[in-house]
Amino acid sequence: MSTNKAAFLKSLKTPFSVDDAPLHSPGPHEILIRNRAIAVNPIDYKQQDIGFFIKSYPWILGMDVAGIVEEVGADITTFKKGDRVAALAPGMPTGNQAYAAFQLYTVVPASVASKIPDRIAFTDAAVLPLGLTTVCWGLFGEGYLELDPPSASGTPSTKNNNKVVLVWGGSSSVGSCALQLLSAGGYTILTTASAKNFDFVKELGATQVFDHHDPDIVKKLVDAARGKEILGAYDTISTAQTVRACGEYLHELGGGRFTKVDRTVDASDLPASVTVTENQPPGLRGPDGGLASWNRLWREFMGEGLENGKLKTKPNAFVLKGGLEKLNEAVDLVRQGVSAKKVVVQVVDGS
Ligand SMILES: NC(=O)c1ccc[n+]([C@@H]2O[C@H](COP(=O)([O-])OP(=O)(O)OC[C@H]3O[C@@H](n4cnc5c(N)ncnc54)[C@H](OP(=O)(O)O)[C@@H]3O)[C@@H](O)[C@H]2O)c1
Repeated sequence: MSTNKAAFLKSLKTPFSVDDAPLHSPGPHEILIRNRAIAVNPIDYKQQDIGFFIKSYPWILGMDVAGIVEEVGADITTFKKGDRVAALAPGMPTGNQAYAAFQLYTVVPASVASKIPDRIAFTDAAVLPLGLTTVCWGLFGEGYLELDPPSASGTPSTKNNNKVVLVWGGSSSVGSCALQLLSAGGYTILTTASAKNFDFVKELGATQVFDHHDPDIVKKLVDAARGKEILGAYDTISTAQTVRACGEYLHELGGGRFTKVDRTVDASDLPASVTVTENQPPGLRGPDGGLASWNRLWREFMGEGLENGKLKTKPNAFVLKGGLEKLNEAVDLVRQGVSAKKVVVQVVDGS
């Protein structure tokens, strides 16, 4: 078998450097993936800049991969060598470096990997795993909004039509997944985006969209939601300003709960009528990772949903070719801010 290489962060706030890395064998419930595409997330630059969840240096980051199964663990029956897959690379929440994405070969628990249809490029499939994971947890997971999970097959039921969910930041990666799952559940979805992305979020299922630059946005959202059953809000951006806006929106409508995605942002001064839950990265415990509350939904949409088109590989990938060396440029692009795009590094030409 080939040797492994990884893009290492050697100390806080320094560029990644590519070097030889250990090549791990999959455990009984794991698979080893030869990465063909690695997607970059805001957590990558946050870790590079702030160092959280980093146990020691050098350290390997990254949470989204797509590629080809190289080897399967002893108890694996659902994957075989050569399968095309996309997977969550849970190196950050677990502290397990074999699970990190920024390398040529990544081991993942099979429970967070999914086969992908032949028509979908690795670079497109890589945009989904972390976003979808976060949403399954934050919208439907126990202790979060606890909405009725949608189905990846059939037409959405009409029973949720009068129930309104606010997705703040519908054009983000997390927001794009949230819109698609809520749309599959037949919910009324209010969302926010820049005007240039209104069509994008509507295509993903938003019922009504509001420009987040509009100073009157909260009043407009409240007017749009009034008279419906309010199921809460999902703040996929979670700056101080968006957290405050979601809190104000819910308070005006009588209170409720929302999920925020960034633990570093303070939400302690919200009105008492509003409850906030932190969208934690799912911990992995035991063979199936203790992930049952969202894992069924994740697998259904990554499998059947991708196959039948209910789940689209959105936002579109902005692909950098050139392998692990391109990760510095890729993470810098995400740090500067992207709009309805996911930055993806192509590891091998032709994927
Ligand atoms: N807790 C977890 O498990 C978890 C997992 C994944 C991500 N996250 C966090 O979730 C956040 C989003 O991640 P991501 O990858 O989805 O981000 P992203 O795709 O990089 O976000 C870019 C998008 O943010 C939108 N945006 C920026 N400011 C906005 C505002 N004030 N109101 C509405 N939209 C705004 C932009 O919309 P326009 O261009 O339309 O203006 C743009 O499309 C990050 O903080 C990330 O660290 C948490």
